[in-house]
Amino acid sequence: MITDTTQSPAQSQPQSGGTPHGSTQTASTAVVGLQWGDEGKGKVIDLLAPRFDAVVRYNGGANAGHTVVIGGKKHAFHLMPSGVLHQGVRSVIANGVVVDPTVILSEIERASQALGGEVDLLISDRAHVVMPYHKAEDEMREQILSAHTDKDRSIGTTKRGIGPAYSDKAHRSTAVRVGDLLRPDLLKEKLERICEAKRPVLSALGADPAVCDASALHEECTEAGKKLRSRICDTGTLLNEMISAGGRLLFEGANATLLDLDHGTFPYVTSSNCSVCGIPSGTGLAPRHVGRVQGVLKAYSTRVGAGPFPTERDDEIGDRIRTRGNEFGTTTGRPRRCGWLDLVALKYAVTLNGVDSLAVMLLDVLAGFDELSVCTGYRTSDGSVTDRFPADASALEAVTPVYETVPGFQEEITGVRTWDDLPEGARRYLELIEQRLGVPVGIVSVGPDREQTIVRSID
Ligand code: GDP
Ligand code: IMO
Ligand code: MG
Repeated sequence: MITDTTQSPAQSQPQSGGTPHGSTQTASTAVVGLQWGDEGKGKVIDLLAPRFDAVVRYNGGANAGHTVVIGGKKHAFHLMPSGVLHQGVRSVIANGVVVDPTVILSEIERASQALGGEVDLLISDRAHVVMPYHKAEDEMREQILSAHTDKDRSIGTTKRGIGPAYSDKAHRSTAVRVGDLLRPDLLKEKLERICEAKRPVLSALGADPAVCDASALHEECTEAGKKLRSRICDTGTLLNEMISAGGRLLFEGANATLLDLDHGTFPYVTSSNCSVCGIPSGTGLAPRHVGRVQGVLKAYSTRVGAGPFPTERDDEIGDRIRTRGNEFGTTTGRPRRCGWLDLVALKYAVTLNGVDSLAVMLLDVLAGFDELSVCTGYRTSDGSVTDRFPADASALEAVTPVYETVPGFQEEITGVRTWDDLPEGARRYLELIEQRLGVPVGIVSVGPDREQTIVRSID
């Protein structure tokens, strides 16, 4: 166990804010974002990875952008698991992921260069392939939604083809799986059939139907298949065998809980189960193997793309957070919407995921504010205040946040490495989060670099 010498008050005292979620005998851990993404999951995965045998992506695709910074050098991963920079830790892309072959091939090359050796990456034969026509469809559907006569109704997707690829998975007859890349004859027949079905749909959406050229796609896919052949396997069986042999897995959630297809702010969500609910179906492991849950949150809130965001500050406070936190998307470069911490939404996410421990990221960004506000309730249209999180977008649009204001801290904290050295205002803020969410803070991040971290407890 890696611990700071300072014991967390939340570990030594009973929780007042909710039921402890309890420890588990399973040796695996899930890292999951508790807000609308970009909480710093990549940094947490990189930090925890050396204690595990494999890092496993179970959902999403190249819509994710996970950043790891080591000695000032930045590495951004979209499909590649974020533990890849540790020799001896296997990377696994499990069946629940949608894989863009072009993206993973370039990430393999970059990671091999960074490692100075071969990357130990395996990809599920059951994972689905993101095709060029998925990206075209994503783009066109967004364009159509944005041009609605009453208002822009686009989701603000990353345009990485995620929704259309998962739609085809559900349609079945128009889906291509990673295993198909290894069967050129079957794939040829399949792509001809798919392109015939897709061409009129893409034309109707206004896309260039040339993206549905079966023979060009076949060539691209078989080429990718040749390059990936040695990595494609039945990862479900492999992961079960690893667990049977006493192996430890680190599950890397992509996107985040409030973007979960079923439990997020629908319809402004992504197309997979990003919460821990996605792990069993996205890996082929029984739910009891999920293990400990490490929830990751920013010390404030951000969102990129459309959808309700009760604590958003479209003013100088939001601008200050955006500038200090460099809040621009890792995948698309879009400016992120910024606002105060929302404890109502977080409590919902903590409960849904059964979070055991919190990693509070980007605390350094809040230095210099005289006061910090946290949302502790939502006022609804009838004037009453609730601490229930309505996942439906229209209900959430209608609430007004109720804030509690606490003293801030002036000191820059990027050089702080222990809990005790944090300014009192910062400690109080963290204790408030622990107390209201009923979960201890195990990790505090005070800068993007691997070293800029306060570890209290990660067991
Ligand atoms: P992810 O998608 O959850 O992995 O998060 P992203 O990588 O998309 O976004 C998090 C951003 O914050 C990245 O640029 C990180 O390098 C950066 N970051 C992570 N932790 C900290 C921190 O404690 N302080 C600051 N200032 N930046 C951080
Ligand atoms: P990481 O893993 C932030 C958002 C998009 C959009 C919605 C749907 O880096 O935290 P999609 O392209 O998935 O169909 O877009 O979901 N979104 C993310 N926002 N971080 C992410 O991933 C995201 N993945 C998807 O901005 O609002
Ligand atoms: Mg990100």
